[in-house]
Amino acid sequence: MNTRNVCAAVMATVAWLCLGGAALADIESIVKSCDSCHGADSLKSGSEVPAIAGLSDYYQADQLYFYRDKERPCKDAKTSSGVVTNMCNVTADLSDDQIDALGAHYAALPFVAAKQEFDAALAAAGQKIHERDCEICHTEGGSNIEDDASLLAGQWMGYLKVTFAEYRAGEREQPEKMQTKIDALSDDDIKALMHYYASQQ
Ligand code: HEC
Ligand code: HEC
Repeated sequence: MNTRNVCAAVMATVAWLCLGGAALADIESIVKSCDSCHGADSLKSGSEVPAIAGLSDYYQADQLYFYRDKERPCKDAKTSSGVVTNMCNVTADLSDDQIDALGAHYAALPFVAAKQEFDAALAAAGQKIHERDCEICHTEGGSNIEDDASLLAGQWMGYLKVTFAEYRAGEREQPEKMQTKIDALSDDDIKALMHYYASQQ
């Protein structure tokens, strides 16, 4: 794909990238558009936008393919400049190469645990549930990137709330063995788990 095609493809979703004509739609400028939601300026307490820096390239690229292929629900969010869009729009015209490059870009950055409020009693209850049901795949309290099952420890509670709701409603695909565990939990158990992950800062 030549630069102009890349620009046209990107333009369909993140139009501001190509404004000014001369802009080169390379990965760096795509990253800027991603950071208008995922960057430090947009992330704040209660954020429904997940922290993505430091997640494994394999996991991230997979999720971007899921969004692009409409296999994962997309929730509207606002960029730092006030544009409302979602992950389905953002990924619609990305090439496989761009997706893989984006995964590699964010995987190379350090993960920064979210600074957020949590309830210590709920976190303690959540830790017990995690150790019983989740630690087998989400090792080290959900903080081990080598698991290739994303990072739970230090992720924003607002985002975890959204994604748990999607799992519970059967809207987001999950490993069968995880689904069995998730389905067996009460809403209070899920809440406790969220506080446990939030407590790891
Ligand atoms: C309009 C705001 C917005 C923009 C722009 C945006 N994202 Fe997202 N992103 C979200 C939200 C909100 C979620 C979580 C909700 C959902 O699944 O729809 C998400 C989820 C993700 C996830 C899944 C994380 C996980 O833990 O499963 C990845 C990976 C991701 N985005 C990468 C990107 C990349 C790469 C770009 C740029 C090409 C981008 N995002 C642009 C808002 C945005
Ligand atoms: C059999 C292994 C397994 C078990 C058990 C398991 N998970 Fe998972 N989990 C995974 C994998 C693999 C993924 C990544 C799925 C994907 O690629 O979409 C995942 C993804 C997730 C995510 C999404 C992370 C993100 O960034 O969006 C959450 C939240 C989660 N698991 C919570 C849990 C909780 C809570 C438990 C225990 C009740 C649990 N999991 C048990 C394997 C497991």
